Amino acid sequence: MNKDQLIEEAIGIRNRAYVPYSKFPVGAALRTKSGKVYTGCNIENAAYPVGCCAERVAIFKAISEGETEFEELAVAADTQRPVPPCGSCRQVMSEFFDRDTKIHLTNLQNNIKSIVMEELLPFSFQPSDLIDDK
Ligand code: THU
Repeated sequence: MNKDQLIEEAIGIRNRAYVPYSKFPVGAALRTKSGKVYTGCNIENAAYPVGCCAERVAIFKAISEGETEFEELAVAADTQRPVPPCGSCRQVMSEFFDRDTKIHLTNLQNNIKSIVMEELLPFSFQPSDLIDDK
């Protein structure tokens, strides 16, 4: 699956979003290095903070299926500019993505911003920062 098809998957999965509160459907599609695609949509909750963003749903689905190697992620929403992922999602991405993993952010007008993990969250807290070898 190429980048444009991955973006189409991200746009399409917005139909499954559960967004009675924000009415703002977001879709994500994550391609593994082995070529599988895991999609995600945002899932909200009456207890607002419990909801989960589309990006994290896609990543957690993949991780829970045993996937660890990711090639690229597409994220889509009906925004003016390519949709910027929230800070929590950036931190989750940084846990599982390499510095050069590609992330394609888009809106529905095909304004695409393609960046890599290091650009999306520079100087991020990493698992290696927990190691006490000072
Ligand atoms: N949201 C996402 O799913 N991903 C983003 O990148 C931005 C925000 C969701 C969270 C919430 O369900 C709704 O969009 C409004 O913030």
